[in-house]
Amino acid sequence: MTFTNLLYQLEAETGILTITVNRPDKLNALNAATIEELRHAAQQARQDDAVRGIILTGSGEKSFVAGADIAELTKLDAATGQRAAEQGQEAFRLLEESSKPVIAAVNGFALGGGCELAMACHMRIASDNARFGQPEVNLGLIPGYGGTQRLTQLIGKGKALELLLTADMIKADEALRLGLVNHVVPQAELLNFTKQLLSRILTKAPLAVGLCIDAVSAYYDKERQGYQTEAESFGQCFTSADFREGTTAFLEKRPATFTGK
Ligand code: COA
Repeated sequence: MTFTNLLYQLEAETGILTITVNRPDKLNALNAATIEELRHAAQQARQDDAVRGIILTGSGEKSFVAGADIAELTKLDAATGQRAAEQGQEAFRLLEESSKPVIAAVNGFALGGGCELAMACHMRIASDNARFGQPEVNLGLIPGYGGTQRLTQLIGKGKALELLLTADMIKADEALRLGLVNHVVPQAELLNFTKQLLSRILTKAPLAVGLCIDAVSAYYDKERQGYQTEAESFGQCFTSADFREGTTAFLEKRPATFTGK
């Protein structure tokens, strides 16, 4: 697929894919076309063996993603609104369920759908100018791309409800204090810091990394048994070449070289 609203840039030597939401004149607001491109990008990244990890960011220095495109929202009714939410949720779930690590580099406003997009990633690094919020109630709306669920998971019911009901915008240091982001760094260092964190993860056994992500996801999935998932995945690790390599390398006092098999 050719992307119009995203930049899809794969660095061949590291396997790091950077997906950049690229509508800077609209503060990278997510219109339906961009949501569809995000769904394709997430699928493409999952299927491409050359992609080992993903960074998601926004274009420019002001905004990560300033929410769903409000001009488009005015055209929706009950049925098309529900469908739009389901499409957004599906696209974001593809990122969340990726066995390859996905880190959001939040470079400015992460509001509404932007906060929801960041929360669908496995981790979030914020630049010091980042602002987070779910301002939907200002518009007579509620979040539709998983915000009520993931915000509650990440920061707990009381604080989630406070942000949802007040529509307050919080600064990066407050987001760090609440556990909404993993780190806050100066904007000039954001992409390098995120890349270094991802690169460290990419030195680990890929199958084990993917199974960790999946086992943590199972905790939040009412259809699944988290402890059972963990036990089964733990067992699965013993069949992998990477388990043999990891343990052999430890005993031989050398760094492991993993193949993802
Ligand atoms: N949807 C559509 N367009 C948006 C947008 C959104 N969510 N957020 C920003 N834009 C557009 C603005 O309309 C403006 O476009 P224009 O230049 O064609 O008029 C452009 O992006 C720049 O935004 P502007 O509001 O002028 O920037 P600002 O620095 O004054 O304010 C924000 C920045 C983020 C505080 C403000 O844009 C805002 O509140 N955006 C909406 C956030 C929101 O409610 N998101 C949830 C949607 S469900």
